[in-house]
Amino acid sequence: MPRKIIIDTDPGQDDAVAILLALASPELEVLSLTAVAGNVPLALTQKNARIIVDLAGRQTPVYAGCDRPLTRPLVTAEHVHGKTGLDGIPLPDPTHPLQPQHAVDHIIDTLRAHPAGTITLCPLGPLTNIATAFTRAPDIVPKVAEIVLMGGGYFEGGNITPAAEFNIYVDPEAADIVFKSGAPLVVMPLDVTHKALTSRPWVEGMRALGTPVGQAVASWTDFFERFDTAKYGSEGAPLHDPCVIAYLLQPALFTGRHINVEIETGSELTLGMTVADWWHVTGREPNAMFMGGVDREGFYRLLTERLGRL
Ligand code: RIB
Ligand code: CA
Repeated sequence: MPRKIIIDTDPGQDDAVAILLALASPELEVLSLTAVAGNVPLALTQKNARIIVDLAGRQTPVYAGCDRPLTRPLVTAEHVHGKTGLDGIPLPDPTHPLQPQHAVDHIIDTLRAHPAGTITLCPLGPLTNIATAFTRAPDIVPKVAEIVLMGGGYFEGGNITPAAEFNIYVDPEAADIVFKSGAPLVVMPLDVTHKALTSRPWVEGMRALGTPVGQAVASWTDFFERFDTAKYGSEGAPLHDPCVIAYLLQPALFTGRHINVEIETGSELTLGMTVADWWHVTGREPNAMFMGGVDREGFYRLLTERLGRL
């Protein structure tokens, strides 16, 4: 029985690879994509989500959600993802339609319509949609099987400020709601995604697939990695969001600890920091499986095999 998931996303080249990995994997039933403002404004993240569904040749419904954080102005990341959010390769405008219902209402209705413990939420961007759904319909929180999200950082620090990772930084109030919700949480922070670095041979292997998906993934990675290699001097780009989907498919690829993680929402200096009690010094109740390690070879083997199916 495939695992039912909803992917909440702000595409974003790495979101795109995560979505393609999910759509290529029969172990997962992607009920829908819900777009949120993040890397680029909502008008573009919802359009990009539809472009990705077209590229995969699927009919997965796409919903548009919140166009700004709960209480703060939107911060975007065109400097990383380009003006369109999917820079790297020109792709045709989407033919796949946008669903008329608001993504938050879709999330609420879907969780209410399914038995408890059957739906996993996979947020790949700021947590505005998820937090809004949980606030508007608290009854759905205990029905969530698991939330597996990309966000945060501890040993690795931040990537948008010295203290904060982008997804959490954009909407720290939303992250605070989700991290305090009580829903089972698996977190893929920069500590692990910065170890999931692409390599030249892997990118060329994608191009060598000779498929539209292989070409797109190679081109997106070429574009996306320029930011990280310039900043970190790393060889390759961190494929952040695909770590969420890879965990669902092969959890043994990852290692981490079940610890307490709280979100800074008060200090401007450390706003959006995921304060991870890795050494259990606070006595605060653990609320998240916080990942720190990944089998990079295994991760890319899985990606190559699955993306080769599209
Ligand atoms: O900090 C990395 C995260 O921010 C990724 O999800 C990327 O897509 C952006 O949303
Ligand atoms: Ca993202």
